[in-house]
Amino acid sequence: MKGMVKTVVHGVTSAEYAGVNLKPGLFSNRKASISIWLSFIREDLLPAHYTVFLADDEKEEIGRLQSRAKAREYVVSRAVIRKALSHAARQEVKPHEWRLEKKKGGKPIVKEPASFAQFQFNLSHCSGLVAVAVSKDLEVGLDIEPGDQVIELRDVSSVLTHSETSWIKKMNKDAQRIAILQIWTIKEAFLKLLGKGFSIDPRELEVVVGTDPTVHSKKWKLPGKPFCKSLIIHTSTSFYVLSLATWKGIYDELDIFFHLFDPAPSRVEVPGMFSNRKKRS
Ligand SMILES: CC(C)(COP(=O)(O)OP(=O)(O)OC[C@H]1O[C@@H](n2cnc3c(N)ncnc32)[C@H](O)[C@@H]1OP(=O)(O)O)[C@@H](O)C(=O)NCCC(=O)NCCS
Repeated sequence: MKGMVKTVVHGVTSAEYAGVNLKPGLFSNRKASISIWLSFIREDLLPAHYTVFLADDEKEEIGRLQSRAKAREYVVSRAVIRKALSHAARQEVKPHEWRLEKKKGGKPIVKEPASFAQFQFNLSHCSGLVAVAVSKDLEVGLDIEPGDQVIELRDVSSVLTHSETSWIKKMNKDAQRIAILQIWTIKEAFLKLLGKGFSIDPRELEVVVGTDPTVHSKKWKLPGKPFCKSLIIHTSTSFYVLSLATWKGIYDELDIFFHLFDPAPSRVEVPGMFSNRKKRS
C-alpha cells in the first residue's frame, strides 16, 4: 500500500549545533520533501540582520506595526519565509525578489515569480520562535506552541471533541498537557493546510494521536488523504510542540528536512539557548 510509509528526518546535526534537540518521530517518500525552518528571535540582533532579506513593501510595513516585539516577529518571520523559499528554489530567486500574497481566508502564497507559484509554505510563530514549512510538491500547514504553557482541559472545550477529551482524561497531568498541545497543534496545522483558519470549528476535526497521528471529520469530506506529524523541539531551557499537516497525494515517501536560520551564527551567544554552556573566566 502506498502513502508515505518511509520516514526520514534530515538536518538534526545543524539543529543540535544551535542548541536544539529534535526528537525524531517524523516523517518521510515517490519522493516529496518538506523543509522546516526554525529561527529563534534574537534580541541581540539588529533589524538590519533580517531586513536585508525583505521586499520593499515589507520594510514599509515595519513602521506601521504597533510594538517593537511585533515588528521583530514580523521581520524575522518574513526573512525566514524568503530564505526558505530561495533555498527551495536553489537560489534561482533572491530572498527579496519573491512576491507573496494572501489568499481569501488569509493563507499566504507565492505570487511571483510565476514559474515558482506552485511552491507552498506556511508560517507559525510563538514566544521567541518562528517556524516555516516549505515544499515544492505538497500543500502544507504548520503550527507551533510553547510546551511549558499550562492548559487545563476546561480551557480547550471549544477545541476538543468528546472522544479526544475522554481519551486525555485517562492520562496523568503531564501526559495530558502534551496530548492537548499535540491535538491542538495538529488541528491548527490542518486548518491552516485547508487555508480556512478558525472559520471552521476545530471540533469538526478529530485527531487520534500516536506515532502516526490521524485526522478525520465526521461532518465533512476532507479534500485529500490527511498526513500529519507532531514532534517536540527541545532547547536548553524550554520546549515546543510542532505539528505539520499535508496531503498524502501521489507520493510514497516524504523527506522532512530541518534547517536553522540564524543570520549571525556563532557571533553572540543567545541567553537561554546556550545557558548550559560553561562561561569562560
Ligand atoms: C491562522 C490561524 C489559524 C492561526 O493563527 P495563530 O495560531 O494565532 O498564529 P500562527 O503563528 O500559528 O500562524 C499565523 C500565520 O498563519 C498564516 N495564516 C493566516 N491565516 C491563514 C489561513 N487561513 N490558512 C493558513 N495560514 C494562515 C499567516 O502567515 C500568519 O502569520 P502572519 O499573520 O504573520 O502572516 C488564525 O486564523 C486563528 O484563527 N487563530 C486562532 C487560534 C485558536 O483559537 N486556536 C485553537 C486551537 S485548535
